[in-house]
Amino acid sequence: MKGSRKLFVKSFGCQMNVYDSRRMADTLAPKGYVETAAIEDADLVILNTCHIREKAAEKVYSELGRVRLLKEAAAVHGRRLLIAVAGCGAQAEGEEIVRRAPAVDVVVGSQNYHRLADLVARAERGEKKVVDTEFPVEDKFDALHLPSLAATRSRGVTAFVTVQEGCDKFCTFCVVPYTRGAEASRPVGKIVAEVERLAEAGVREVTLIGQNVNAYHGAGPDGRPWSLAELLARVAQISGIERLRYTTSHPLDMHDDLIVAHRDLPQLMPQLHLPVQSGSDRILAAMNRRHTRADYLSVVSRLRRARPDLALTSDFIVGFPGETEDHFAATLGLVGEIGYAGAYSFKYSPRPGTPGAQLDDQVDEEVKADRLHRLQAAIDANQAAFNRRLIGRTLSVLFERPGRYGGQLVGRSPYLQPVQVTAPPALLGRIADVTITEVASNSMFGALAQGAARAQKTALLDAGA
Ligand code: SAH
Ligand code: SF4
Ligand code: F3S
Repeated sequence: MKGSRKLFVKSFGCQMNVYDSRRMADTLAPKGYVETAAIEDADLVILNTCHIREKAAEKVYSELGRVRLLKEAAAVHGRRLLIAVAGCGAQAEGEEIVRRAPAVDVVVGSQNYHRLADLVARAERGEKKVVDTEFPVEDKFDALHLPSLAATRSRGVTAFVTVQEGCDKFCTFCVVPYTRGAEASRPVGKIVAEVERLAEAGVREVTLIGQNVNAYHGAGPDGRPWSLAELLARVAQISGIERLRYTTSHPLDMHDDLIVAHRDLPQLMPQLHLPVQSGSDRILAAMNRRHTRADYLSVVSRLRRARPDLALTSDFIVGFPGETEDHFAATLGLVGEIGYAGAYSFKYSPRPGTPGAQLDDQVDEEVKADRLHRLQAAIDANQAAFNRRLIGRTLSVLFERPGRYGGQLVGRSPYLQPVQVTAPPALLGRIADVTITEVASNSMFGALAQGAARAQKTALLDAGA
């Protein structure tokens, strides 16, 4: 092994993008690369890009401008800084990246970053513009090793695990089927091994991720394809794993066994991200979402029958081509009808190569901005109402990190909201009951509940206090 070199990785995308960043660091660790949080110390900078909207795609170029200056400054001191661009943006743009930003040494796609160590070694040996955005025949996950216990420990008590990747749905606005390829599921055994490693390193909450996670159908130990509900039940048996979540789901794949798991599997948190995108049937059809507003409402009512307190969140796109004020009003109406715990909303961004970008009736930017503003107000009202109902309730909170002020910890409620609590550091990584005292727009405040005093005492004893 060569001497230690420093690696800085920055994620620009979704949870899977963050997960990939960690796995890239894991593949480089045996080559002597140690992660640093200070970009100016790095010998290798990886920018892990996102391509979902134009704004996300462009962000990397302004960042590359800054990293190029660091590279030039390092060269003045006789030090070599390598720059790699990875992820969905790299997958989509490939060579174009080195053309626009010649300081880039390596471009690696979203499906072949298991080859990153070799690509970096080629650049280290002086090869110029190493670009690899192939969809390989081998499975990248097979080539990736489990991270070391030490690396895993440093990453906290919650973790993401990719269980499914890619998408065959081809919504007309979306680049994911092109940047992540066809839908594929990892086998159950591999996922279980990865979660066992995480649990051993102290992880208590795992979120299973996939672009279409509820379409999961990975091979089980019995050779049969398992559903996501079966996978969740298996992962719940792993000692130490106290909480489970999964994201992102498509309404069409919300099958009965998964809905029932929300009632029957205690580790499965009462929270679900189920994007609907629009409340108008005309727009849903143009988006090729393959479900109607009524289908979505019916899935939601089945879910709520199974788990009445379920915190539902969604994604919305405003200003998809052809969207009129009436279509938009249907979206606002749906938000009022559902009562979300929160949602993300975006202005439609025409993406090169997607069918939506070719449509004639594109909506004006000002109209999009106005609709976005109104939609966000409706979502905020939903969220405030959801949060207000929790005041005075006692919820279990998994403490993840120290709070902003001394003596405080921040954890997450079962509904995924951050909760700030005055609590001893020994409760980090543990679950305790917290009574919610106050809610603000993006976080909640609480006090350790009476019953939590016992947990606190045990924690203090365990910590040798
Ligand atoms: N697999 C997930 C979505 C992944 S992309 C799903 O099926 O819902 C995350 C979100 O980005 C989408 O839900 C959508 O709301 C938004 N998005 C995707 N493409 C977009 C585009 N071209 N313009 C604006 N928003 C977009
Ligand atoms: Fe994109 Fe649609 Fe697939 Fe989600 S389901 S990743 S929005 S194509
Ligand atoms: Fe972006 Fe790729 Fe995720 S396009 S949202 S990083 S799957």
